[in-house]
Amino acid sequence: MEILIALLALSAITNIQGNPLGFKPNIVILLADDLGYGDVGCYGNTTLRTPNIDALAQDGVKLTHHLAAESVCSPSRAAMLTGRYPIRAGLVATNRLRVNMFIANYVGLPDNETTIAELAKTVGYKTALIGKWHLGLSKEHYGDNKFHPMNQGFDYYYGHILTNMKDFSREGDRLETLHDRYTKEGVQFLEERSKDNNPFLLMMSYDHTHTAIRTSERFRGKSKHGRYGDAVEELDDGIGEIMTALDRFGFGRNTLVYMTSDNGAHLEESGVNGEVDGGSNGIFKGGKAHGAVDGGIRIPGIFRFPTVLPSNIVIDEPTMQLDTFTTFANLIGAELPKNVQIDGKDLMPLLKRKRSQTPHQFFYHYCGDILQAARYRPKSGNKVWKLVYETPDYLPGQNRCTFACMCFQSIKLEEPLLYEMVSDPGEENPVNLKDHMKIVQIIQEAVKKHKESIQPVPLMMTWYKGLWRPNMQPCCNFPYCNCKDPVHQS
Ligand SMILES: *[C@@H]1O[C@H](CO)[C@@H](O)[C@H](O)[C@H]1NC(C)=O
Ligand SMILES: *[C@@H]1O[C@H](CO)[C@@H](O)[C@H](O)[C@H]1NC(C)=O
Repeated sequence: MEILIALLALSAITNIQGNPLGFKPNIVILLADDLGYGDVGCYGNTTLRTPNIDALAQDGVKLTHHLAAESVCSPSRAAMLTGRYPIRAGLVATNRLRVNMFIANYVGLPDNETTIAELAKTVGYKTALIGKWHLGLSKEHYGDNKFHPMNQGFDYYYGHILTNMKDFSREGDRLETLHDRYTKEGVQFLEERSKDNNPFLLMMSYDHTHTAIRTSERFRGKSKHGRYGDAVEELDDGIGEIMTALDRFGFGRNTLVYMTSDNGAHLEESGVNGEVDGGSNGIFKGGKAHGAVDGGIRIPGIFRFPTVLPSNIVIDEPTMQLDTFTTFANLIGAELPKNVQIDGKDLMPLLKRKRSQTPHQFFYHYCGDILQAARYRPKSGNKVWKLVYETPDYLPGQNRCTFACMCFQSIKLEEPLLYEMVSDPGEENPVNLKDHMKIVQIIQEAVKKHKESIQPVPLMMTWYKGLWRPNMQPCCNFPYCNCKDPVHQS
């Protein structure tokens, strides 16, 4: 008897060590594309209907100062998947190429980076990516598929490798059913897990609300904000279906759901007939592709995990999206990669309210390979400082560029600007530098140390790697290359 108890106790300890909760939680990531902070009901939008996202916040923790590592997709997504500033992987713009533009080139998330999906697999998780990837396909030659999601940790993949783009869409085409197809795929993945009982990581990487914007008939013309609003509402509906499926298959309570967007809304985006195709970043300045201004990087961030996290709480402490890498890894009992600088920090103590402050003191804000600003959260008080070195080359009198701001065209300030982000979230009133020299000095020192920590790596987004190569182009139907979806015929 004693031996049995001792064994049981031992196994309990081992369990806890490998796995802090004593069970293997599932993880569902709901990632929107270019959805703005100000587009979501629970973040203050009063005219768009997002009841399902709002319910996540109601049942969980809503972060109001959650930051993407970049203001555009490819680097922001790379950071989230690896827990590292994208410059560490070389996946940053040095020229006009801000995101990956083609499938047929050599740009991608380096295959020696460790993704959260790869980590999850080391501890027995089934992993799936449904939707947009935007982190490359082949590395050296056609068909090596080294950057393909299934070679970056995902057991299952359904979606498109690049991104949704304006000219992909014609009236009446299949893009209209894309969102529903993603939902079906996600639900099917959950159903399979209910049969094999494997813990899982499911990443729903939605195309909404990136252009081209096409929604199913159920949502067309239904919102108060044109087709952009329709897309937000369809996105929310799909999220609702995933949540319903989680409950239906009995996963609701042991699953951590994280809802977010890859960067801020794209203010300059409009359709050929002048439709507004970009969303709202609420009170924050600027938007997607604007580098370090908060409109491009302040994103929704909601964590729902009924058995573990409190419900209906709001946390205003600054956090980063790339923190999810470390948070999830610890939660599922996976070992972090060795000899690699990980920037993400475990958010669980903050989310559980075991601690009241963010685990970060400093946050670095890049536009491509340029560090444009740094944020500082002192250990005492409740201020958050942001020191800005470079600002976007905005059109005169406006907080926007022509279509996308270019990092290398940013304005290098002779003297940096210092904002207090809690009292001035819109970055409108820089404080007097001379009165805050201590703060400036602390930030400058942190920036210096951070820069020293960046190891030179091969750059991924060069013109050489980025240009379209006919010999790298996948094509299932030469010479038309207008492939049909083999799974969901419609
Ligand atoms: C709600 O979102 C729409 C679409 O992005 C935007 O036009 C509107 O200003 C937002 N409303 C608020 C209160 O932020
Ligand atoms: C990946 O390989 C490159 C060289 O090709 C190297 O510079 C970089 O440090 C490696 N990254 C990791 C995370 O090992």
